[in-house]
Amino acid sequence: MNYRITILCENSVGPLSGTLGEHGFSALIEPTAGDPILFDTGQGLTLLHNARRMNKDLSRVKQVVLSHGHYDHTGGLKSLLEVCGAKDVYCHPSVFNSRYRVKDTGECNPISITASREELEASGATFRFSREFCTIAPGIYLTGEVPRVTEFETGDQGLYCDCTGQDLDNTPDDQSLILETEKGLVLVLGCCHAGLINTLEHIAYMTGRRDIYAVIGGTHLGFSGQEQMAKTVDAVKKLGISKLAASHCTGFAVSARLSRELPKEFQMAMVGYTLEV
Ligand SMILES: [Fe+2]
Ligand SMILES: [Fe+2]
Repeated sequence: MNYRITILCENSVGPLSGTLGEHGFSALIEPTAGDPILFDTGQGLTLLHNARRMNKDLSRVKQVVLSHGHYDHTGGLKSLLEVCGAKDVYCHPSVFNSRYRVKDTGECNPISITASREELEASGATFRFSREFCTIAPGIYLTGEVPRVTEFETGDQGLYCDCTGQDLDNTPDDQSLILETEKGLVLVLGCCHAGLINTLEHIAYMTGRRDIYAVIGGTHLGFSGQEQMAKTVDAVKKLGISKLAASHCTGFAVSARLSRELPKEFQMAMVGYTLEV
């Protein structure tokens, strides 16, 4: 199966005029045969606008995957359902957990999904909750919960379940999408809170495969330490990953470093970026 993957929502825009950026992520996956799948929905300010600008008809999407329950990946779901019709929504059961970013200053900002399960169901969502590795469509898999096995992928230390700053949220609902292609596996990340190496190890365990052709999406390396960064670059080199199309929570400084260390593989996956494989 071949795919076209198009970034619909991201922090930055590419050269396509008339598109808009927002802090968030959404990617449309169009297989050569079968219906398109939407992976994440951004925070809700740009999804429908950018899709229209790129002539992507989201009413053809029957399946939506939510990588995790943060507002910047789930906020576009309600308007998508209202404008483009009912969808099956694949996600982890913890997607509706309360979440906050607590800064060193004590400032606390809510970052949970903004609509309730009831509101989304009333708008046409049918939730398909799973913690397990599962098949979404032929050759398309969702990782399920990713076991944290590496010591250096410590997660984002600013994420909490409440505003006290005591109850760390390790984002257990974080999942990534896997596409089987002739060139190898393509991995689509939301924020990859679980860590890229943990995610790759989990995929190897579940599928027996380490032939990763491309990784596209948010790596969360912008919120990680130097050791995690260095070991992730090593892993990309060792696995022979051909394309690392980083986005969103990768951030400017880390993207600049990835671009320097992986000049052939690294690309900025901004709004309008397309990977055909
Ligand atoms: Fe995010
Ligand atoms: Fe996130």
